[in-house]
Amino acid sequence: MSRRRQIYEGKAKILYEGPEPGTLIQYFKDDATAFNAQKKGIISGKGVLNNRISEHVFQLLGTMGIPTHFIRRLNMREQLIRQVEIVPIEVVVRNVVAGSLAKRLGIEEGMPLPRTIIEYYYKNDELGDPMVTEEHVAAFGWASQDELHDMQDLAIRINDFLSGLFAGVGIKLVDFKLEFGRLWEGDYSRIILADEISPDGCRLWDMSTGEKLDKDRFRRDMGGEVEAYQEVARRLGLLPDGVDSTVLDLDSARKARDGK
Ligand code: TMP
Repeated sequence: MSRRRQIYEGKAKILYEGPEPGTLIQYFKDDATAFNAQKKGIISGKGVLNNRISEHVFQLLGTMGIPTHFIRRLNMREQLIRQVEIVPIEVVVRNVVAGSLAKRLGIEEGMPLPRTIIEYYYKNDELGDPMVTEEHVAAFGWASQDELHDMQDLAIRINDFLSGLFAGVGIKLVDFKLEFGRLWEGDYSRIILADEISPDGCRLWDMSTGEKLDKDRFRRDMGGEVEAYQEVARRLGLLPDGVDSTVLDLDSARKARDGK
């Protein structure tokens, strides 16, 4: 049996060489980390859910004209993606005060922001992903001014679209993290959305109860992680009613529901 070449292993995903040049396979693990991997755990079934949720979100973003690395989902834990050069900046978009913003400024979580805030973090595990400004990004050449503008523009469009998508299913999009990559075409590159969009990198609060439906349940030892991720998938129409197993074969479950 031929073994695929592993290109990279991150905290929640593994990248393998793809079937064609310029493609990769993105494998979603059940591993969960927080606080720069000081806290580690397994959320059984998370990889399957994140693969499916991220597929759904990236497909919708694609139809809205947002360029992404997503090509297609291959199976329960893998998707085929375009190979990009990851920009070493995490772009965080915030609509409501929560998490590190609440802590840093001593503001209570839950205050709606009068305007959306975009923050940048330099991707560097040894340094614990420090927050940086546009000035640092430009000065150290992590992204060009044009690339930064493209990332900002895409982040705002993604936020507008996702806020509406989640509001439509009774979920408040509090904040989220995006990663972008350079897609090279000859000597030129353009910025496209990469990584994933899932409850791992978003804060999602139930609109009526305020219940947390995201990785904060793991970060804060609240329990019920996989049930929360399942609830997000269910509301997005990705999880048939009555399916609550943590070993999820979403394809079979959907076919059974639809009688196909
Ligand atoms: P923060 O409030 O901890 O800065 O997080 C802001 C958002 O970014 C939140 O939705 C979680 C997400 N995030 C990640 O996806 N990865 C990270 O390493 C961090 C720190 C946050």
